[in-house]
Amino acid sequence: MSAQRSEEDTVAFEVKDGIAWVSFNRPEKRNCMSPALNRQMMRVLDELEYRDDVGVLVLTGEGTSWSAGMDLQEYFRENEAKGLGATRQAQREAYGWWRRLRWYHKPTIAMVNGWCFGGGYGPLFACDLAFAAEEATFGLSEINWGILPGGGASKVAAELLSFRRAMYHAMMGENIDGKTAAEWGMVNEAIPLAGLKDRVTAVAKVLLEKNPVALKATKDAIRRVREMTYDNAEDYLIRAQEAANSFDGEGRKEGIKQFIDDKTYKPGLGAYNREKSQG
Ligand code: COA
Repeated sequence: MSAQRSEEDTVAFEVKDGIAWVSFNRPEKRNCMSPALNRQMMRVLDELEYRDDVGVLVLTGEGTSWSAGMDLQEYFRENEAKGLGATRQAQREAYGWWRRLRWYHKPTIAMVNGWCFGGGYGPLFACDLAFAAEEATFGLSEINWGILPGGGASKVAAELLSFRRAMYHAMMGENIDGKTAAEWGMVNEAIPLAGLKDRVTAVAKVLLEKNPVALKATKDAIRRVREMTYDNAEDYLIRAQEAANSFDGEGRKEGIKQFIDDKTYKPGLGAYNREKSQG
């Protein structure tokens, strides 16, 4: 019914006070992910990743939805009609930007304002932190229309949920609200929708005060060590910190100095003043 949105218009973003607010922008289609949206999201991530005025990226949705998952018409049906090559290309485009987001240079926050279904679990997991509206709705609806939760969704459920919950969630096709998603560990917190943006802004501001090299090293470390033995993790973490030192050798020295010598802050209670070390 509605006029077709241009590819460029499927994702909206604005940068304000160090935070890039990126939105799925197909509210009339509940922000389901079409191939056009997937391509545009990769372009937007590309544009924002190394900008000096971006310290944190927030991914949210326009309208009543975060994302209603993959576009059943444009991602599934139309590509299947074109053949296997088209399907594989569409998968590469979707999985590509989720992977890019999992290892993004800046800290990332999912701000789940409404519906979050199926394929939406890919970008949800890709974000380092996640905050949901209590009123949001999460579901692995795939079983309801006759497929398994693909595109990483089963992996995300198994990563974030207990075995029994993942099984129930995937097999029953029942939805949960934001509060339950927080109880189950799918998101960090659930907040009434009216206060969601304020809470996410406050979290982003805390992240903006931290050393960005240390943040990137930290977020990668938490993802990487999940799949390592203890000994391998110990070794990886030594090497990751030493690599981080070569990007920012002064930051941690300044952090130690402001605590031990200047006595201007306590690391147990907050971050050191990075402006001093830069100034
Ligand atoms: N794929 C394709 N189109 C979708 C879509 C999806 N995943 N989700 C929503 N849409 C479209 C609808 O077909 C409708 O299009 P139309 O206006 O041209 O008829 C439009 O978006 C609005 O959706 P509607 O169902 O009327 O909105 P709602 O607010 O009543 O319901 C949902 C919202 C999310 C509950 C419902 O749209 C839905 O169940 N979507 C599918 C969710 C899903 O299974 N996703 C997993 C895919 S892996």
